Amino acid sequence: MRKTILEADLGDDVFGEDPTVNALQERVASLLGKETAMIVPTGTMANLIAVLGHCERRGCEMILGDMSHIHRYEQGGIAQVGGVHPKTLRNQPDGTFNHNELLEAVRSEDVHFPRTALVCVENTHNMAGGKVLPLHWMDELGAMCKKLNLPIHMDGARLLNAAVALKEPPSRLVRDCTSVSLCLSKGLGAPVGSLLAGPCEFIYRARRLRKVLGGGMRQAGIIAAPGLYALEHVYPRLHQDHEHIQIIAKAVAGCGSPAITCDPEGAHTNILMLNCNMAYITPQQLCQRMEEVTEEEVAVVGERVVAKMAAINLTTVRLVTHINITPEDIKALVAKMVYVIKEMDRPKSA
Ligand SMILES: Cc1ncc(COP(=O)(O)O)c(C=O)c1O
Repeated sequence: MRKTILEADLGDDVFGEDPTVNALQERVASLLGKETAMIVPTGTMANLIAVLGHCERRGCEMILGDMSHIHRYEQGGIAQVGGVHPKTLRNQPDGTFNHNELLEAVRSEDVHFPRTALVCVENTHNMAGGKVLPLHWMDELGAMCKKLNLPIHMDGARLLNAAVALKEPPSRLVRDCTSVSLCLSKGLGAPVGSLLAGPCEFIYRARRLRKVLGGGMRQAGIIAAPGLYALEHVYPRLHQDHEHIQIIAKAVAGCGSPAITCDPEGAHTNILMLNCNMAYITPQQLCQRMEEVTEEEVAVVGERVVAKMAAINLTTVRLVTHINITPEDIKALVAKMVYVIKEMDRPKSA
């Protein structure tokens, strides 16, 4: 992947003249079944540009899940930068929301109300633990939004993980979405970059928005080249990351621990949520413990294992696998995790 950066053919992408960027954009547009695509530095910028592109008039409202990345982790950029009013629907544990609640949320024309201009969904759903949105749910949403004349934007930061899990082409998963964002820098393992795909006329406006946000990059082929490499070489191996998560999930569940639990069946892709019983351990304590190594532990585990995980709320730790995590790493992690879980399960006074 690094070699492709050195060897990339470059040009000025602000003028649309970087051949490597152009090749990546065409590749992604075709993968997603959209007319065209545009490179941006981050998923956050891709989502913000998408929302601004769909919600052009003042007083627009956008409907999205309350646990979505756009709502929770993008600094309220849609309101801060775009003046777009968010209407959240309660995300269910599988990352979906209730279609009837969507129907109720859509505004009628009334002088008191903002105007509903967009619906946004996320696939895989990060806070739901990398869950894949069911295709039938997406199809129903697509039919509903078509009737309502509402565009759908898909935050597809990890869309290819969803496609792999469903064994479907990515274009099928986003068939009814007008626009889609896709990150190169997540499971695909590229150092930087995201794409926004959609109709030509939409992406033309998106290019203007990218420029005003400072996202117009010059020789961006150095970002596009590893992206092209990732689509060719990393995409076909994403299933290994999912298999690794299953190995960890089954090992944790197999401990039958009262302190730390997880749901292997609910782990669809490369993310695993570990639930911490606060009577035993907090998420912060678990993360800290997994980064420490004790001599007693090395005697049992056989090596020094340091694992980085993230505490994401009061009860949950999030764990992600990716291309740099090898089968040997998984074996070592499981040995350490089982050791730590047994340690947690011991009564505190022991
Ligand atoms: C679902 C989802 N969307 C968007 C983003 C934002 O991507 P970036 O970190 O490239 O801005 C993330 C980042 O973790 C994400 O998980």
